[in-house]
Amino acid sequence: MSTNGLKPGDINLASHGDMERLGKPPHEYFEVLRREAPVFWNPPPDPQHPRFNCPGYWVLSKYADVAEASKDPARFSAWENSVLWTNPKENPIVLEAQRSGLMGMDPPQHTQFRRLVQPGMTPRKVAALEPFIREQAQQVVEELAARGTAEFVFDVAADLPMILLCQLMGVPQDRRDEYLTLGNNVANVEFNENFEHDNIMLFVFLDEIVQAAEDLGDDTMLAKYLHGEVDGRRLERQEITQFFLTLSIAGHETTRNTTAHFVRLMDEHPDQKALLLEDLEGRMPNAIHEVLRHSPPVMQFCRTATCDTEMRGVPIAKGDKIYMSYISANRDEEVFDDPHRFDILRPNADAHLAFGTGPHFCLGAALARTQLRCLLEELYRRLPDIELTGPPTPMNSVWFNGLTAMPVDACPHAAASA
Ligand code: HEM
Repeated sequence: MSTNGLKPGDINLASHGDMERLGKPPHEYFEVLRREAPVFWNPPPDPQHPRFNCPGYWVLSKYADVAEASKDPARFSAWENSVLWTNPKENPIVLEAQRSGLMGMDPPQHTQFRRLVQPGMTPRKVAALEPFIREQAQQVVEELAARGTAEFVFDVAADLPMILLCQLMGVPQDRRDEYLTLGNNVANVEFNENFEHDNIMLFVFLDEIVQAAEDLGDDTMLAKYLHGEVDGRRLERQEITQFFLTLSIAGHETTRNTTAHFVRLMDEHPDQKALLLEDLEGRMPNAIHEVLRHSPPVMQFCRTATCDTEMRGVPIAKGDKIYMSYISANRDEEVFDDPHRFDILRPNADAHLAFGTGPHFCLGAALARTQLRCLLEELYRRLPDIELTGPPTPMNSVWFNGLTAMPVDACPHAAASA
């Protein structure tokens, strides 16, 4: 990949203006950072985001460093100042909310809370859900086939993650659209001017669900939280609702964008699509890993140094944020050969860090992989000719590698052959 004379510091990774100008993740820039400044201070952007101040952070761009920091919560804390690139310490309410969700905790508290829900998310538990997931996937694909053309991201890829979240939490299916709208509004944290209002609305919505679920059986995730104990005490309602609020964003935005990236990448690489179609079920799991490696939906999460420390000899002061770049780690040439190439047969594609690693490793990884596999197998079996009819619209974000729209024709040859 040509890096065109780029230098460390030429792009501010916290600047929405820079991201909008680029219109895609800055892979060339990360290549420069990995080579020349693998632990690099990214200053606060100028101008700052109107609502979220970024204090600046140390960008970790090498695979080994992202993995090391993820696995060392005693040195790099999620609790101290959240996993966001912003500065919640400026606002005690925001900081408290972040700390009451699983992502914003450190061990041993994190271990105790995670233990409550982890048993419900094991590969075996997810495998038991597969018939339901497949049936729902078939329905989503049939609806697309009937429509013919569609905006793929929100009208197709968003459906299955939402259906499954509703199922896991016991949200009635007839409230799904309301939940989807609220979840999307809150996930759009960077540009939704009514974010605070929508966040409260989602909290109130989930709180109603929690209240209505008091008598649920023990097999929903929500019931596990409702009836679980940490340190010999029942969880408070706010803790339960906060957990589901985190899940509402973690569980659908990510899977939706991965589905969309998969279809986009197959469209951009007809040779890879042909390989996939030759052995759809056999090659699908590795193809999903390769999409997650090549185009991870979450660009980064942050941690905060709990002491004066260093990485690769670069001093990091107590209280400094570090930015763990999954986008860059996944293209580290020391781990992946010819890393910019999209190759669904790549032997170590599953070593990607799109789900993170260490104690906060994505709790929904097995569920995400299963739903992606079911949906994409059904899609390419039923509609193998699906193609993009225009360029996808990238999301302007310093956090998500997302798409906000992608027009498709599900059966482009139907008219010609009719
Ligand atoms: C392709 C889809 C997904 C991707 C790429 C993804 C990615 C991630 C990443 C990067 C983290 C943070 C790791 C860290 O901080 O070290 C995470 C955490 C988490 N994810 Fe996912 N995720 C996906 C789908 C899901 C789904 C479907 C669910 C649940 C329904 C889910 C639930 C969670 C939860 C609860 C956490 C917090 C875990 C903890 O802090 O212990 N995710 N995910």
